[in-house]
Amino acid sequence: MVSYIGMPTSRVDGRAKVTGAAKYAADFNVPGLVHGSVVASPIAKGRVRRIDATEALQVGGVVEVLTHANRPRMARSDQAYKDEVAPDGSPFRPLYADKVHFSGQPIALVLAEEPEIARFAGSLVRVEYDAEPHVTDLLARRDQSFAVGGDTFALSPAKPRGDAVKAFAGADVRHEGEYFVPVEHHNPMELFASTVIWEGNGKLTVHDKTQGVQNVQRYLCSVFSMKSDDLRVVSPFVGGAFGSGLRPQYQVVLAVLAARALKRSVRLVLTRQQMYALCYRPGTIARLALGAKRSGALDAVTHEAIAITSQYEEFARKDTIWAGALYTCPNTKFAHKLARLDLPTPSDMRAPGAATGIYALECAMDELAVALKLDPLQLRYRNYSDRDQNADVPFTSKKLSECYRQGAEAFGWAKRNPEPRAMRDGRDLVGWGMASGVWEALQMETAARIVLTANGHAEIACAACDIGTGTYTIMAQVAADMLGVPLDNITIRLGDSTLPQSPVEGGSWMAASVAHAIAATAGEIRKELWRLAQNHPSNPFAGTKPEDVALADGKIMSKQEAHRSLALADAMRAGGVDRIQKQRSTDFKDDSAYARNAHSAIFAEVKVDEQLGVIRVTRVVSAVAAGRILNPKTARSQIAGGVVWGIGMALHEETLIDHHFGRMINADFAEYHVPVSADVHDINVIFVDEPDDIINPLGIKGVGEIGIVGVAAAIANAIYHATGKRVRDLPITLDKLQR
Ligand code: MOS
Repeated sequence: MVSYIGMPTSRVDGRAKVTGAAKYAADFNVPGLVHGSVVASPIAKGRVRRIDATEALQVGGVVEVLTHANRPRMARSDQAYKDEVAPDGSPFRPLYADKVHFSGQPIALVLAEEPEIARFAGSLVRVEYDAEPHVTDLLARRDQSFAVGGDTFALSPAKPRGDAVKAFAGADVRHEGEYFVPVEHHNPMELFASTVIWEGNGKLTVHDKTQGVQNVQRYLCSVFSMKSDDLRVVSPFVGGAFGSGLRPQYQVVLAVLAARALKRSVRLVLTRQQMYALCYRPGTIARLALGAKRSGALDAVTHEAIAITSQYEEFARKDTIWAGALYTCPNTKFAHKLARLDLPTPSDMRAPGAATGIYALECAMDELAVALKLDPLQLRYRNYSDRDQNADVPFTSKKLSECYRQGAEAFGWAKRNPEPRAMRDGRDLVGWGMASGVWEALQMETAARIVLTANGHAEIACAACDIGTGTYTIMAQVAADMLGVPLDNITIRLGDSTLPQSPVEGGSWMAASVAHAIAATAGEIRKELWRLAQNHPSNPFAGTKPEDVALADGKIMSKQEAHRSLALADAMRAGGVDRIQKQRSTDFKDDSAYARNAHSAIFAEVKVDEQLGVIRVTRVVSAVAAGRILNPKTARSQIAGGVVWGIGMALHEETLIDHHFGRMINADFAEYHVPVSADVHDINVIFVDEPDDIINPLGIKGVGEIGIVGVAAAIANAIYHATGKRVRDLPITLDKLQR
């Protein structure tokens, strides 16, 4: 019997993607499509005094210029703009009023018969502003930051334990340091785009680049007071998003606004530069204070984070929670503060809160190991926690120790000379560093519909999105196994708001969520087939219960006696049907008796040119414990992609803000540096065996975000080991090494 779950399976949507058959949001064409172009604010704060579109409107092919002054009606209340993942505060409302909240804010939307005409005419829209003084520098506002906590925030830091200040003062060995992660951007390949098809009678089909079609659908219905049946959002393919597509973005609002104003189909594609003013990873300052006994046992952990938020929303993530959970320590103290700047609201970006928080924690642990003269891996072992220290509960499973062991062995960690600058390769200094990674293993209520036909084909439908992670493929694998039919017999439909309920595709929760939705629904199909088989003249399942049979090889089969079986087609014929349709939702028992996490251990080798300071990351081993791996091939791609991103975080990525103008200035791929092929060398991904029958029936944890967590720390630690120079503010560029 074939099992597709666990097999390294190529993407079922791969052919459509590489041949161009897969259509993205800006690929949908209809006759008479109107194209939009956004005119954005050059000032960071103030008001629009006057907009003069006369000249723009005189350009041949220009249809309309929409602004806050002449737009159609939009909802008035803040609440109407709250999407399912909105943070506390008052969401941004594009073209709503004259107030300017950030540089790059859309001020006018030019609509024309061709995109080039719209963009050119945009340059002729004259806008006068009353500018007010702005602040966009986190360092300038750190002293006015306010603590996240209390009832207003869902993401309060963990409770303190003991007295961390006193324990730190009395510790045998101490390390205290401040770490900095700059503003970074998601930079997905696909631009943010929406094509809104005017279907007549006010009905709209919205092709949107998003991680959550139902989230966008509900949001748009709320903003434009539309009936649910009149607005459908589809997004079958997404060219990367990494969190930037979790919330509905302003281009979809403007495209719908324009379609309703003109009663025509409208497309709006943002430029790469405009995408920089959509959302970003918040720049974060972290202060770590670690105290240990001479043995290496932690006695005090303090982790305080100060992160950017906007003037209108309070975006916060759990930067400091990991320091409380990962290691045993009797005395802990945490704080998360926000500094309001005149920037757009930050957003989730791959492993939000962990990519940043773990960077600081794991660099600080490395520095403590140096102070203790203890191998950094030994320091992790010495403080290993078998229970989540914050909630004092066991983990559903935690094979981090195996990650350490297998990762270290594959890397050759035992051969490390602990002295900095002690390892060389020609003119290069060689450094070896390591770090731990951790992420939540989440699961969300999700529904699936299965239609199984007598010829053994099945269509699986769910409103989930596949943001390039492999959701189509794992859905097909799970369905094929659960229905006992070949993978090629499965058709997946997703990314459509009219399909069964799904949350946004984020938090690495989609695989576990949709797999169990499919499993639950397939269970209903199996029961139905068993029931139909009772009508068969030679019913092989007389005296059995539905639980006694399984679906395999195109048959219903007794679990005990495989010879008692009946072909699916025969069971359906016996029941007088040629198809079975079922829909079920997951029903997770998310009790708080256990902590649910995926873990990793990352080992990195860097080679640093001693004269020039040029850093290369020559080897990375990432050993991951993330429960059952549904598809080692797509899962490996997720982890390898995360490692590449970790290289970028460590060495390249930084969004620079010109504080005089309050504007992000390196807003393109030429000036915002990401790793290219020449920066990426040997990446070895190991999946540690981690059976888990507590977390959920299939033992799935998900492997999206865990891939990036800890990578930047392992590289930073390796650079210290190579050079003896500790750089705490990312990215670690060669000029910082020379200082
Ligand atoms: Mo992820 S940052 O939840 O797309």
